[in-house]
Amino acid sequence: MQLPDEAISYHYQGLLVPQVEEWTPAAEARSRHFLPPNRLKEIAQRAMQVRGQVAADRELRQIPAEMQPLDAGFIDLPQKTLDQHRRHAETSPLGRILSLANRLRENVDAAVILGIGGSHFGASALFDALKSRYHNNLPIKDRSGTPRLFFEGDNVDNDALHELFEMLQLACVEPDVREERWGVVVISKSGATLETAVAYRAIRREMLEYYGHHSPYFNRLVLPITGESSKLRDLCKADGIADSDILPIPDDVGGRFSVFTPAGLVPAALMGLDVRALLLGAATMTRRFLEEPFERNPVLQYAAVNYLMSTEQDKPIRVLSVWSKKLEALGLWYDQLLAESLGKNGQGPTPLTAVQTRDLHSRGQQFQDGRRDKVINNLFVKSPAHSAIPIGMMDHNQDDLNQYNRKTMPDILSAAHHGANQAYFDSARPAADLVIPTLSEHTMGQLMQMLMLATVVEGRLMGVNPYGQPGVEAYKRNMRNLLKT
Ligand code: PA5
Repeated sequence: MQLPDEAISYHYQGLLVPQVEEWTPAAEARSRHFLPPNRLKEIAQRAMQVRGQVAADRELRQIPAEMQPLDAGFIDLPQKTLDQHRRHAETSPLGRILSLANRLRENVDAAVILGIGGSHFGASALFDALKSRYHNNLPIKDRSGTPRLFFEGDNVDNDALHELFEMLQLACVEPDVREERWGVVVISKSGATLETAVAYRAIRREMLEYYGHHSPYFNRLVLPITGESSKLRDLCKADGIADSDILPIPDDVGGRFSVFTPAGLVPAALMGLDVRALLLGAATMTRRFLEEPFERNPVLQYAAVNYLMSTEQDKPIRVLSVWSKKLEALGLWYDQLLAESLGKNGQGPTPLTAVQTRDLHSRGQQFQDGRRDKVINNLFVKSPAHSAIPIGMMDHNQDDLNQYNRKTMPDILSAAHHGANQAYFDSARPAADLVIPTLSEHTMGQLMQMLMLATVVEGRLMGVNPYGQPGVEAYKRNMRNLLKT
């Protein structure tokens, strides 16, 4: 298979026990804490078998009780969505996503995205990774017609919601002016999640007050995304929103696997991202997963290496060490993916996101010198999107930086990354590199699909069903019971 220049890769050789090494205390420690290459070879075989099983799961029409829930729809969804769009253009699911997102975009200068868990993290990861950090502060003309975006409904935080309303009330006083109009995308697959439902109720009230109860704006400025049958859908229909203006999250795609459904694609389109490139990246990763041998298959490599680290090398903490501020939200998305998918039956690695170099000044001490309970996956972006900022020469050299004057910020980051890896190796702390050539829709599509597929493979290796999240239901039941009393 021909890989595009933008292909992401997983470099795990640094955490294998070196083949030939003279005895030193550090070499001895590495032989205990790093992966024996033979063991990885054996697991690679099993991972290939698991791939066959995951591929077969996609074809199942009748799901046996012992395999439920099985939400394998996410695997083929990106390619399917692209194919349908090619054939049916505006009437395809992607056509509808783009046209409804566009309608909202043309009508408002601010959009509030409501959702929690899988109905929040994916969109927020894309926003942080691919838009300017100061998007919401940019003048309209520099946002190319895209609205400012605010994420809410991902908590029960009275003051945070209040502050959002205050800001909207201050900025928007004339609903007939597009620059002073705001809208809502409400996302909930079940349509029954209390956090999102309560936030929607409050925001709906706020909208009716601002636009007026009989204003035509309301129906045009609310874009619901929910399951085929849900309380949210019923409510929106009762409010006069056409069923065809409510976008579906397919039944066979679980919440935390839903970033390539309208739950992630509508916010992406609102942001002005290239949604097709995102889907193409994800579809490419699915093909790589299904077709490539272990040696060229980052999904199988990542799943196998990390599975062995947590189950056989006693490394229950899985650190995703992201080397860009713009990837912190992606880390939170992965935290949910891993925790809810594999944290079952007393098993599962504990995910932890660290942002470098920031956290080298906080968690760094513990990674280097604390308990030997971690495996570190560095997520490194090779080329920045913007031109490199140089250190440069200065007449006043009191800071002693003239010696590095030809170096740039990316040079410093690269030195910190290699320096940290060397230090981890020297003290027998296993670390691997997941390398993204650059941050783009195509690479984010690949990366997110890769991590979702790897999580499913890892679950199957562990004998844990990666779909469903029965543990989350307990607090919900208790909360609702308490509210009734
Ligand atoms: O992965 C999951 O299914 C969950 O984490 C959900 O995404 C989360 O609970 C939100 O659910 P809903 O989209 O139904 O509001």
